[in-house]
Amino acid sequence: MFKSFLLSVLEILSLKNIFNKINDCHNTEDFRKLAKSKLPAPIFHYIDGGADDEITLRRNTEAYEQCDLIPNVLAGVENIDLSTTVMGQKIDMPLFCSPTAVQRLFHHEGERAVSKAAEKFGTMFGISSLGTVGLAEIGSTINTPKMFQLYYHKDRGLTESMLEQCHEANFDVLALTVDTIVTGNRERDLRTGFTMPLRLSLSSLMSFAIHPTWAINYFTHKKFDLPILKDHINEANFVVNLGEYFTSMLDQSMNWNDAEELRKKWGKEFCLKGIMSVEDAKRAVDIGATGIIVSNHGGRQLDGSRAPFDQLSEIVDAVGDKIDVICEGGITRGTHVLKALSLGAKACSGGKMYLYALAAGGQRGVEKALSNLQSEMIRDMKLMGCTKVSDLSRNNIRFR
Ligand code: LAC
Repeated sequence: MFKSFLLSVLEILSLKNIFNKINDCHNTEDFRKLAKSKLPAPIFHYIDGGADDEITLRRNTEAYEQCDLIPNVLAGVENIDLSTTVMGQKIDMPLFCSPTAVQRLFHHEGERAVSKAAEKFGTMFGISSLGTVGLAEIGSTINTPKMFQLYYHKDRGLTESMLEQCHEANFDVLALTVDTIVTGNRERDLRTGFTMPLRLSLSSLMSFAIHPTWAINYFTHKKFDLPILKDHINEANFVVNLGEYFTSMLDQSMNWNDAEELRKKWGKEFCLKGIMSVEDAKRAVDIGATGIIVSNHGGRQLDGSRAPFDQLSEIVDAVGDKIDVICEGGITRGTHVLKALSLGAKACSGGKMYLYALAAGGQRGVEKALSNLQSEMIRDMKLMGCTKVSDLSRNNIRFR
């Protein structure tokens, strides 16, 4: 009773505030700042941070700044069609929400907010193995293409169970993550003591005290859990840092045979997330994958690895006619998407581009972030003299 009263008061108070602030977020950086003001430091830095010196994290966005678009004019651009088909999924814009972990830590609406916002914009979204809303619920409530991101666990029963949950919930695409064989060295998380869920300590309690809206929402909504893994882990003891989870639960012996086996077992659209080399891109074609996500895991794994956009042309030239190539990471602007499509990506995807917005304002935040990016893409297409995605080509891009 008291809890629901408190929740209603909180919602009324914070919604008004949130609306105004969200409407003032015109780009990814605006959302980043708002998220920073709302989140306990360990959570903000978990989203925001990268590995080691964060060189790759920064380069992922900077890479887009090393080339320029060349527009055509007088092209009759009153109607723009942003739709594309990627891994058999028709989506209304060439940008989708990458699967990311533990979204209910960032905002109590978590994956529900992201999936509903993606549905509204007719695009795809992904749920992580470390998702915090069950696949059955997402499958029965959301009607837009759905991707599941699978971590290959030592416990084969768990991997089987995830495939089953995905089939039952009618997920469309399985993405096997291949760039997290160990976790990256995330020094911000070491400093802040980030764990899933947050471990209660003096500093985390302090952090909750200065972010009361987040803390009240977090503690008055359903307790943090990992429903996709829950039957296979001891939830009572499940407070881990990411490094422990990856080392103790994921299978470092995973190889190409395992990936091929998994594709066969799944039997639907299958992609590898975290391909960076041409050689691996070719092998992905050989094992029958329908897509590859060119990605360095948002700069969170191997610092010093190349940015996806820098590596895109090589990969498209080698396999672009055989497999759908998706460019992931570092995207903060509509022009970034147009540049990647010009080089031959079928679509782009990103995490931070919607996670800051999720933290800032739940579903409304994600909708505003997607709306900003969609408006930018439409405006930019008009300014480029292009009416459909397939009008973009290497003719309209030059490297300096
Ligand atoms: C991360 C994992 C969990 O980057 O995807 O934090």
